[in-house]
Amino acid sequence: MKDLYLIGAGGFSTEILHLVEIIQKEKKQWNQVFFIDDNPQIQNTELRGVKVLAGSDFLMTIDSEIDIVITINNVNTREIIINKLKENNKVCFPNLFSPHAIVDYDYIKIGEGNIVMHHVILSTNLEIGSFNIFNSYTGIGHDCKIGDINSFGPRVAISGAVTIGDKNDFGVNSIVLQNKNIGNNNNIWMNTSIMRNLKDGNTYFGIPAKKINL
Ligand SMILES: CC(C)(COP(=O)(O)OP(=O)(O)OC[C@H]1O[C@@H](n2cnc3c(N)ncnc32)[C@H](O)[C@@H]1OP(=O)(O)O)[C@@H](O)C(=O)NCCC(=O)NCCS
Repeated sequence: MKDLYLIGAGGFSTEILHLVEIIQKEKKQWNQVFFIDDNPQIQNTELRGVKVLAGSDFLMTIDSEIDIVITINNVNTREIIINKLKENNKVCFPNLFSPHAIVDYDYIKIGEGNIVMHHVILSTNLEIGSFNIFNSYTGIGHDCKIGDINSFGPRVAISGAVTIGDKNDFGVNSIVLQNKNIGNNNNIWMNTSIMRNLKDGNTYFGIPAKKINL
């Protein structure tokens, strides 16, 4: 049985640890669980009884197989950490599914390193890449295609047949209308309704969504 390392030891990380505890209670999957955080001030402390062991450089020295889950919501930080950890081929990135999520497991193609929190609905005929975070109560409608390293905040509603690229950050309660295409690297602020296709690299807010020039 492998050990599990949770990268990041912030507030959201404790939610992920709680999810891990629930999964372990149903069927033990991992031997020991540790946090990893690059902030030296919290190394050697504990969070919910779990040790913050070291910074991420430590993981590059491990030569036995380990599981890693990245619990950092910021898409750019997540990408940097993924690229670094992929250099160690002993590292595996399991998908973490809450037992309280509804997932059409028979009709989904999904990569690695995704987090699917409680009460998420991953509907039917989905293609999902890797390292996405689906926070609680988010719903993804039928026939959506989703790339890599996107963050979906709580209660995001993606309607059917939407295509989403990489590294988009959807704020809490945001909505995308059916059949729309969302590019890459967009910030969609909370409570925003996307009703048109989006290109790359912009920030949107409001109902209907307007581009914010920051
Ligand atoms: C919270 C949020 C609405 C804006 O917060 P913020 O970054 O503090 O934004 P501010 O109110 O400081 O505004 C930032 C800039 O946008 C501008 N702005 C804000 N609302 C605007 C609007 N409707 N139209 C035009 N410009 C606007 C502000 O004037 C400001 O510009 P300035 O820096 O030149 O003064 C946005 O960041 C957001 O939705 N984030 C996601 C939150 C979320 O989902 N959290 C869940 C985590 S689990």
